[in-house]
Amino acid sequence: MIVVSFEDPLDERTGGIAADGSPEGGAEVEVGHLPVMAGEVVETLAPRSGSLQIDATLGGAGHAERILEASSPDGRLLGLDADGAAIARSARRLARFGDRAVLRQVNFGQLAEVAPGAGFAAVDGLFMDLGLSSFQLVDVERGFGFRAGGRLDMRFDTSRGRSAADLLATMESRDLAALFRRYGEEPFAGRIARTIVETRSHTPVETAEQLAALVARAVPAPKSRRTHPATRVFQALRIAVNDELAALEAGLAASLVLLRPGGRLVVLSYHSLEDRIVKRFIAAEQRGCVCPPEVPICVCGRQPNLRSLGKSRTPSPAEVAANPRSRSARLRGAERIAA
Ligand SMILES: C[S@@+](CC[C@H](N)C(=O)[O-])C[C@H]1O[C@@H](n2cnc3c(N)ncnc32)[C@H](O)[C@@H]1O
Repeated sequence: MIVVSFEDPLDERTGGIAADGSPEGGAEVEVGHLPVMAGEVVETLAPRSGSLQIDATLGGAGHAERILEASSPDGRLLGLDADGAAIARSARRLARFGDRAVLRQVNFGQLAEVAPGAGFAAVDGLFMDLGLSSFQLVDVERGFGFRAGGRLDMRFDTSRGRSAADLLATMESRDLAALFRRYGEEPFAGRIARTIVETRSHTPVETAEQLAALVARAVPAPKSRRTHPATRVFQALRIAVNDELAALEAGLAASLVLLRPGGRLVVLSYHSLEDRIVKRFIAAEQRGCVCPPEVPICVCGRQPNLRSLGKSRTPSPAEVAANPRSRSARLRGAERIAA
């Protein structure tokens, strides 16, 4: 399996973030998160006044704000984020929309259970902007960036689950290696896992800074300096800590329950593991009968649930130049078909 990282959030070209994960130019740089492909997202979702929309990944609420503006004067939006800090930030940014914006701190893996209780049982749009925000990346306490000196956490929701430092302290060498291979396609997974286990026998591996240095020591010097040698390990740990791919599968499945006929699913992904799941989900749900060709009459009774809204889209060169963080984004959309 080839893992192509559409976006390396730790890359030196990532908007405002230096190769070591620190904000470019030092701590005085004001951190912001520019919504990626915002025009294309709104165009694909096509929110109308009076419609109900879900933004399952609020982050800094950049997309949510655009969606609420486009659905003025009375469209409503349910905004979710697993991260309490993202909810607090979004609440401030969206305050001017009053009760048109309903925010919940919850994992979108629980979307099907949460949305009906919030009054969003049948919606016109569901949007997901996967991964992490620039706010999380530059917060040294969260452990997402290479130079973070605090405990290596990496949880979107810091109130539950196991941190990356816990996994590094307790997992066996072969399990760590499997994790780095599976979620990062790290070619030196075994070597890195053994170095972690050897290091922790005398010194706990607890900070992002320590882990980045340890990986850099464990692997041969990179041929290109485009990405830090620990990029794949960091991606793999983050995916594992947040069980990101299982949450994505559950969130996509929820779209079939929540979208009205004609309602739209729009997803922005940033690496091939995510995009493959989205692509396959849409392809599977737009298929009707799956009976083998030798069966003369359909016996499976399967009906398509979605209609793809065409090929995936990527940001324009102008957007990539203005916001390098957008460069690995891939947008896919589909429309719910009446059952
Ligand atoms: C790329 S950012 C979203 C940025 C946002 N669209 C904006 O314009 O500011 C992704 C956000 O999704 C959140 N997130 C990631 N996985 C999640 C999940 N399974 N459930 C809920 N929130 C999640 C992260 O905490 C992060 O704040």
